[in-house]
Amino acid sequence: MRFNDTRAAENAMLHAAKSAAGTAIDRGETSMPAPKKNGGPRPAEGEKSIPGGKTVLVEIADGIAWVTLNRPEKRNAISPELSAEMIAVLDALEPDQRVGVLVLTGAGNSYCAGMDLKEFFRASDPLSAEERAVFTRASAQWQWRRLSYYMKPTIAMVNGWCFGAGFNSVVACDLAIAANEASFGLSEINWGMIPAGNVLKATVATMNRRDSLYYTMTGETFNGKKAAAMGFVNEAVPLTKLKKRVTDLAKVLLDKNPTTLRQAKHACKRIIDMDWDASEDYLFAKIDQMRFLDPEQGRQRAMRQFLDEKTYRPGLGNYKRDA
Ligand code: ACO
Repeated sequence: MRFNDTRAAENAMLHAAKSAAGTAIDRGETSMPAPKKNGGPRPAEGEKSIPGGKTVLVEIADGIAWVTLNRPEKRNAISPELSAEMIAVLDALEPDQRVGVLVLTGAGNSYCAGMDLKEFFRASDPLSAEERAVFTRASAQWQWRRLSYYMKPTIAMVNGWCFGAGFNSVVACDLAIAANEASFGLSEINWGMIPAGNVLKATVATMNRRDSLYYTMTGETFNGKKAAAMGFVNEAVPLTKLKKRVTDLAKVLLDKNPTTLRQAKHACKRIIDMDWDASEDYLFAKIDQMRFLDPEQGRQRAMRQFLDEKTYRPGLGNYKRDA
């Protein structure tokens, strides 16, 4: 399929998705995405369905999938049911042509209160080591592996409480924007635990040594502003402006060449653990790979527009993807 055909088909699907899902963003809503029971509007006949619907809600609007942890009565603590549903949702949205950016957030006043102490920890205590390995696998799958190398760009929109395992998805998402009013904490030290399940790994990967040790050892909470100052999230804004800021950021990402964006973000994450020689070789290999993977052939278009047609400046913005 030629590029123009692909774009036309994507636009048509996006248009259909917009009409089906409603346009909460167009209405300028600044609060959290209103969770809709049963996954929001049902698709008309012939349209693709919306995944999730119980502990994870999904709304697709204007190319953005708003994925909401939906156990507000339990402050969106992660239960085994939620993990299973999240895996299904992420797998369904990854190849979905209506989705260009995925935003992860929480229903109500909480982003995520960590693992469910009753349904995850107390329930798994009596299990054998082998049974526990199976029982706990799903939570690691989505919080870390799926999100870290997701095929679409991801943004964590941290709207409220964020404890323990809540840190995982914040760090695994490519970008994170928090409300100033959000409250983060490594509460494990307060209940006889250490930040396991890679929570500590996520912490030390984003916060410096002193801050990591301080919050791991004290269990003190910190707000969104402090999280931004420490580099744990990209920035913090007032809660009333959170959704607007995340929408604007998502639109910036939606304008980029999606193949280039994916290669760039995966490379950014993978080279951290490589030595310089391996990293150099990997990055050149990625460039070669893109010649085959990019249906837009963005690099050729961009060079033509800059060098021959002189219609844009790469230093100041995107090449024209439809020219
Ligand atoms: N696991 C299980 N249930 C939880 C969790 C959790 N992580 N967090 C909240 N809940 C439940 C409460 O038990 C309560 O249930 P109930 O209504 O059936 O009694 C309900 O959610 C509301 O909780 P409250 O404490 O009443 O809510 P409040 O708004 O006052 O406080 C807060 C919110 C601060 C998030 C508090 O609930 C809390 O401290 N939760 C635990 C946070 C935590 O330490 N998580 C574990 C991190 S470690 C890890 O993830 C590995």
